Amino acid sequence: MSCVIGIDLGTSAVKALLVDRDGKVRAEASRNYPLFHEHTGWSEQRPEDWVEGTIGALRELISTSGVRPDEVEGISFSGQMHGLVLLDEANRPVRNAILWNDTRTTAECREIERVLGPDLLGIARNPALEGFTLPKILWVKRHEPDVFAKAKRFLLPKDYVRYRLTGEIHMDYSDAAGTLLLDVAGKKWSTEILAAFDLPASFCPPLVESHDHVGGVLPEVADQTGLAAGTKVFAGGADNACGAIGAGILSEGLTMCSIGTSGVILTYEQNRDTDYAGKVHFFNHGKADSFYAMGVTLAAGYSLSWFKQTFAPNESFADFLRGVGDIKPGSGGLLFTPYLVGERTPHADAVIRASFIGADGSHTRDHFARAVMEGITFSLNESMAIFREAGKPAGRVISIGGGAQNPVWLQMQADIFGATVVALENEQGPGLGAAMLAAYGCGWFDSLDACAAKFVKHAASYDPNPEAVETYRGLFDIYREIYTQTRGLNQALAAYRG
Ligand code: XUL
Repeated sequence: MSCVIGIDLGTSAVKALLVDRDGKVRAEASRNYPLFHEHTGWSEQRPEDWVEGTIGALRELISTSGVRPDEVEGISFSGQMHGLVLLDEANRPVRNAILWNDTRTTAECREIERVLGPDLLGIARNPALEGFTLPKILWVKRHEPDVFAKAKRFLLPKDYVRYRLTGEIHMDYSDAAGTLLLDVAGKKWSTEILAAFDLPASFCPPLVESHDHVGGVLPEVADQTGLAAGTKVFAGGADNACGAIGAGILSEGLTMCSIGTSGVILTYEQNRDTDYAGKVHFFNHGKADSFYAMGVTLAAGYSLSWFKQTFAPNESFADFLRGVGDIKPGSGGLLFTPYLVGERTPHADAVIRASFIGADGSHTRDHFARAVMEGITFSLNESMAIFREAGKPAGRVISIGGGAQNPVWLQMQADIFGATVVALENEQGPGLGAAMLAAYGCGWFDSLDACAAKFVKHAASYDPNPEAVETYRGLFDIYREIYTQTRGLNQALAAYRG
């Protein structure tokens, strides 16, 4: 059996998938690792935890699947985006990684806007947001000058893990696009932006395509994992790009909804000049010379897991959500905004926090759980509205991630988006996209599109129910007002946060 491995380096866990030539997942293994929130708004991880987790998951995958090491033809990666890994001269991390959901960098974002002015959107094609990498670099430079003095280059999370597996340093365009240092349309590091912040060109790794063969598994990693030394490693891509590849979002007119820790509405873009004026992110795709635009809800799946963990820590997710389908659309007038860690689209705001509005004595825990799911979906619908206003067709949405595991949530997406929502058979999210990059890189297919035609299989589809669509249309208007109505209150409350 010849196969490839897709490694998805997520925020809470790393997952490795063994995929055969038909796109069938033959085995999977994962390892969790901790997040560190030393202060409110901070979010860090230890790069060594990613490496140990990845090696442990690979070892389990090889030993439990019964695959022979020489049957694994290639490996590739999907990674959580934007996280800053600063390396010293010997390529050792100089501090913990600062992650995409860390919001400590508001002052640095304002500085980037002041220094770059219109060049920021012109070159990097995205606004300065706390989650992106350049603000994190400037934060370390300002607040930890001794640490920064040791930093000779930076990588993103999956690039660091790939470096430890192969000894080679690279970054692919889809992940580099989330740093604010890339000339997105020109596909090169921006000399203007590097110069504006006094960063040498040597600070940035060499750029590659996501399907490029960038090295082989090191002998010591082969010993630890059971893989063959020299197994081909392909660069891989940002988790959202890989999620899109794994969902077959490889041509114009296709839209994806992904609900993981964060949530994303993403649409394919062939034209590098499409201009959303920074309202949504515009990044290079993992398919060469193409792009995607996306809006992000920072706390999507995270809102639901926070709610369950806080109010029902000992229940399984299935038990916890069992009664949600019995509650009517609209949760009896209870609304939730998922701003637990601030928000990105359409309100780039690190200070805003979540609200429940309209609670009354008749509401049960199931109403609250449903309201959380609806609030996450309303937030994603704000991104959908931006794409619709820009004339993008959004009549059919491929849904992936945790939000696609639950039929009630899939129907809710159809009703709130007013679109047909399609789930995937054997959906594996970004890990499958990573495996597809390896399969294409190995030469199994002439193109990623040909690989998708074989690997991506549609399952059930959910059509909008006109009555629910009507209810949600009215509620969405009210939902949209909550941000403006609660902004001042949350700014005042910020002084009381830990
Ligand atoms: C995208 C973003 C998140 C992370 C999650 O801009 O910050 O979706 O990629 O891993």
